[in-house]
Amino acid sequence: MCGIVGYIGTDKKVPVIIDALKRLEYRGYDSSGIALLMEDGSVVIEKKKGPISVLESELTDIWNSDKVLLGIAHTRWATHGEPNDTNAHPHTDCTGRVAVVHNGIIENFQHLKDMLIKEGHIFKSDTDTEVIAHLIEKYLKETGNPFEAFKKTIDTLEGAYALAVIIADEKDKIFFVRQQSPMVIGKSDKGTYIASDIPAILPYTRDIMPLEDGTYGYIDGKEVVLFDKEGNRIPFTPIKIDWDIESAEKKGYPHFMLKEIHEQPQTIQDALRGRIDIAKSEIVMPELDSLVDKLKTAKKVYITACGTAFHAGLILKYLLKTYTDLSVEADVGSEFRYMPWDLSRDKDDSIAVVISQSGETADTIAAMRLIKSYDIPVIGIVNVVGSTIYRESDVPLVINAGPEIAVASTKAYTNQLIVGYLLAMYIAKLRGFIDKQFEHQFVSDMLALPNLISTVLGVEETVKDIALNIKDSSNIFFIGRLLDHLINMEGSLKLKEISYIHSEAIQAGELKHGPLALISEGTPVIATVLQDRVKEKQISNIIEVRARKAKTIVLGYRDDIEAQSVADMFIGLPRIDSLFAPIAGIIPLQLLAYHVAVMRGNNVDKPRNLAKSVTVE
Ligand code: F6R
Repeated sequence: MCGIVGYIGTDKKVPVIIDALKRLEYRGYDSSGIALLMEDGSVVIEKKKGPISVLESELTDIWNSDKVLLGIAHTRWATHGEPNDTNAHPHTDCTGRVAVVHNGIIENFQHLKDMLIKEGHIFKSDTDTEVIAHLIEKYLKETGNPFEAFKKTIDTLEGAYALAVIIADEKDKIFFVRQQSPMVIGKSDKGTYIASDIPAILPYTRDIMPLEDGTYGYIDGKEVVLFDKEGNRIPFTPIKIDWDIESAEKKGYPHFMLKEIHEQPQTIQDALRGRIDIAKSEIVMPELDSLVDKLKTAKKVYITACGTAFHAGLILKYLLKTYTDLSVEADVGSEFRYMPWDLSRDKDDSIAVVISQSGETADTIAAMRLIKSYDIPVIGIVNVVGSTIYRESDVPLVINAGPEIAVASTKAYTNQLIVGYLLAMYIAKLRGFIDKQFEHQFVSDMLALPNLISTVLGVEETVKDIALNIKDSSNIFFIGRLLDHLINMEGSLKLKEISYIHSEAIQAGELKHGPLALISEGTPVIATVLQDRVKEKQISNIIEVRARKAKTIVLGYRDDIEAQSVADMFIGLPRIDSLFAPIAGIIPLQLLAYHVAVMRGNNVDKPRNLAKSVTVE
């Protein structure tokens, strides 16, 4: 997803801006560009399709120049117009004295473009963004005041946008606004910074303020001048970010994804922190204090999320249905708000859980806002502190996975599960569905998870052998029942998104209702056998696909001789309660996806066509 950077201060501008821009690469992009305001009042623009290194090679002459006063830059992920040099940001007005970088979508851009063309403006690109530069030009002519022109422009725009803008008439200001697209502002003794995301500017400052929707203003190298959406001046109130920059680097692993998979014993521990009273062996969730009454009396839970986070939501639904009397609805964010049912019917008896790593997924945010408009309390299971979902949910439950850089989510998923398990059991306890003995056992199993996951990571060599065996397949199927099917859905998503191999997770019992027709000699079938209550049925499904000469890769318990006997290849896990199988079972599936993708020579951390943070619908 697009990334924005802006800097004005005493350091050399270009190296800071390009370094910060590179720290946004993980969001996914297809082109990048920079606009620099020079001492003589000219605006220098460079923009290129492809990696930031291509842009960088265009900047050698200006790299250390003292004549650069300030700059803005952008990584683009195409939404309007194909990825090419012309459509890359920054975009300029007719005079070349206004430069704009934009993240989001301007919904009324066509109407504005038609109007501006009629007034004589000449457009160069196919983007929605370019209208912004021409609008500023128009209002600058009308008002003669750059800040007023900027303000009038944002009042005219409809849609989602985070903007950083240079207007050459103002040699010491970068203007910005945040409207439904993330933006943060930082300040240090070396200047002031704008970025779409915290990691971009972390090496330069730890005093960072995530902006609320509607906030606009400018930075001038020393001060951050801010206004709220009503136009009232508001103070710059940064939070201290204590993330370790090291943890945003690869730490010796060849890819972020592998590093993040291996971090899981630690991140799981971080998710449990503060949520278990070890002395009493009890679940404690002080964050939920304000919702206790509601959690005791509600009749219904709505769960919404996208992609991997939605898969975590499906497991939460399963747990709530198993351990409480709540009725539970789980829908993907992109559909939730179009569902024809009437939320007002049971709004007084409902709560909602919204799950998101980034906290910025547009579809999930839209669903959350709809839910909130009915005054249904929202619990946000979220990773990024300060993100939109973190701020707008009634109770954010932070999963503490740390920055997740690889596009394919791994450690955030397991931490979403951990928090989901704690939440489900906490609700079950409040409603009297689990007794002390059950709670103690649950707590002790949860506390054992970090060590268990370290052991499970030991299957990596076995998984690599299997990856080698199946890497050239065109289709790979996953079969399972109940919770096993739910982790297979996530395993299958992981595999397809980074290996580009077609893959499907099928409920094993559904095979003979259609999908069995796809199984032929040598088709890899990954069969998960971790749910004791359906084990016998699952074994007979494996026998069924073996009879069609499928290659069976069985994920089961090490001590399960029967499961091993139907496996061409076997991944053995230590014996655990089936309840916790998703948390342990997903690890080999993440590793399998990773190694297959590496063996196929794919860009594992940045798979084609995908972005880390999907901030458009
Ligand atoms: C897959 C993946 C995506 C995200 C989805 C939601 O590996 O990462 O499916 O899970 O785009 O993103 P968040 O969790 O940021 O809302």
